[in-house]
Amino acid sequence: MLTIDLQDRIALVTGGASGIGRACALLLHQAGARVAIIDINLAGAQETVGLLGEGLAFRCDLGDPEDITRTANHVEQALGRVDILVNCAGIISYRPGLQEIPVEQWDMLMDVNLRGTFLLTRALFEGMKERHYGRIINFASLAARVGGIEAGAHYAASKAGLIGLTKTLARLGGPYSVTANAVAPGIIPTELVHKQIDGHEDAYINAIPLRRLGEPLDVARVVLFLASPLADYLTGLVIDVNGGQYMG
Ligand SMILES: NC(=O)c1ccc[n+]([C@@H]2O[C@H](COP(=O)([O-])OP(=O)(O)OC[C@H]3O[C@@H](n4cnc5c(N)ncnc54)[C@H](O)[C@@H]3O)[C@@H](O)[C@H]2O)c1
Repeated sequence: MLTIDLQDRIALVTGGASGIGRACALLLHQAGARVAIIDINLAGAQETVGLLGEGLAFRCDLGDPEDITRTANHVEQALGRVDILVNCAGIISYRPGLQEIPVEQWDMLMDVNLRGTFLLTRALFEGMKERHYGRIINFASLAARVGGIEAGAHYAASKAGLIGLTKTLARLGGPYSVTANAVAPGIIPTELVHKQIDGHEDAYINAIPLRRLGEPLDVARVVLFLASPLADYLTGLVIDVNGGQYMG
């Protein structure tokens, strides 16, 4: 029987206080990994740890570079190392036109979604290289693949930036057996996207060949695959998890 066995692996999931990040934490834990969570929402992160029955929760604002450095140090002290880094935390903003995006909001999305992922990954990257093992999984979005439909240009651009970051990490990490891949979820009705779809569910569903919206578990399963030995020879990829809404 083939099983995915992540025993002895240490996973760090950002955004694990809710939604897709929580589903990733649960699934990695089920596969045997030791899981820690970073989130700005400490109570939610602790709740996830409670669901796992074990693990660690760290509060960190990924928009704050100093907080990231501090937290990365705490994580490495507490866990010893990070083998699997799931950069799931993210924020969205709905702005239909360019003129409606305040500069501060552009900066905030870039800071949390893109710079935060860069800084946290950078803080843990050298350790992965030294140990010749690392799995980095970043969260892009359908918006990065086809443009923001309702999500703003800043969200789409931050997520597209993560694809460039992922491919660069794949090149830099490859010689050290550190892989970097991204998932690009379609429409997964978590808190984050309810505002977008409420009242229009049917229209969204009809645009999806598999005729259903996604679930956090649909994405978490792909993250688990990328974190597992099944994906040993994959790096620099973006996997669309969208029911066929966009087929690459
Ligand atoms: N849900 C979707 O349809 C969808 C589609 C495409 C991409 N995504 C991406 O998937 C990821 C998870 O989204 P979700 O739907 O589970 O949303 P969610 O809001 O449930 O989860 C996002 C998590 O990130 C945390 N977070 C927000 N700002 C933070 C900060 N400054 N520092 C640290 N943590 C912070 C939140 O507290 C939350 O726990 C995001 O990166 C999102 O952009 C989601």
